[in-house]
Amino acid sequence: MSDLIGRARAAMRHAWAPYSNFHVGAAIEANDGKVYVGCNVESASYGLTICAERMALGAAVVGGARKLKRIVVTTEVDPPAAPCGACRQLLAEFGMDLEVIAVGPATERRWTLAALLPDAFTKESLDR
Ligand code: THU
Repeated sequence: MSDLIGRARAAMRHAWAPYSNFHVGAAIEANDGKVYVGCNVESASYGLTICAERMALGAAVVGGARKLKRIVVTTEVDPPAAPCGACRQLLAEFGMDLEVIAVGPATERRWTLAALLPDAFTKESLDR
């Protein structure tokens, strides 16, 4: 876990956030132990901003990961910020039992994705 926090914090240092100055890092550990990282990337066209969690998820998917164990999200605030709704929804693609750990400079918060996104719209929702 401390390794995962270190990886997320290292990614956070690369955040491109000149508009919000809110730096976020994420590290996803896949079931096979491989780690994929992301940071937020902002745009002068504000709405194009990509969150750190979705960047890490993209890296995991392109790296071949399909089963995910946990995601660590680092911010520079306490209490640490939880993933936004859009990121929760995209993470839901790969299973609701994902462990989500938000880490600030001094404190941590933990959930399952199921707790963060109750009654989620998932691939099962498409069954008819
Ligand atoms: N941000 C993330 O990277 N992840 C989240 O879950 C919430 C917000 C980023 C987007 C933007 O660059 C900055 O934080 C402020 O919203």
